[in-house]
Amino acid sequence: MLQIAPSVLSANFLRLEEEIEMINNSDADMIHLDIMDGHFVPNLTFGFSVIKQIKSIAKKPLDAHLMITNPDMYLQEYRDAGSDILTVHYEACTHLHRTVQRIKDLGMKAAVSLNPHSPVNLLHEIIGELDMVLIMSVNPGFGGQKFIEHSYEKVTKLKKMIDDKDLKTKIQIDGGVTLENIRPLANAGVDIFVVGSTIFSAANPTEMIKALKNS
Ligand code: DX5
Ligand code: ZN
Repeated sequence: MLQIAPSVLSANFLRLEEEIEMINNSDADMIHLDIMDGHFVPNLTFGFSVIKQIKSIAKKPLDAHLMITNPDMYLQEYRDAGSDILTVHYEACTHLHRTVQRIKDLGMKAAVSLNPHSPVNLLHEIIGELDMVLIMSVNPGFGGQKFIEHSYEKVTKLKKMIDDKDLKTKIQIDGGVTLENIRPLANAGVDIFVVGSTIFSAANPTEMIKALKNS
């Protein structure tokens, strides 16, 4: 069954509580939080206090996507704020193996994200430690962008790497997911779909989540 992770980056922040309740009462599997520092990506989103408030009403796991430099400085704070899954960018970590170990020692699921230019084989030595890999199918920083088509090839390569090593690592994709490309992406091996604008621009977001999940 496809898993759907609505990205609150595309939500209406003037009605954030209602948007989280919509996700709580939908078929969504987790809540995707796009954390941006204005340095690793050219955008700035929200910090620990907003995450804590979302956690206080969330009925689904929090999937925190750290688009920040030097994530090692804040792993415990993201855990204490309520993150269940913590995704760091390969491109932001000098000692990625140690970072992944620390995320798991803090009791969270550990994931690594690859930007569109980063080849899948960069993960060859670390993939056995990962609960999930996040393939960026847009350049990180904004919702509503166009899906980068070569992401299919990366998903196929990643799926082969996981199968060849007989691992249970999940594949998550993030950026430009729509009703048109979700099924082909699932067929290529994607397990979890981050979806922002397709859900929050829909006339009925709850129905859109159901349609995506049943694609
Ligand atoms: C982009 C974020 C994505 C984005 C997805 O940097 O990581 O999660 O919010 O939004 P859509 O689905 O609109 O591309
Ligand atoms: Zn994201």
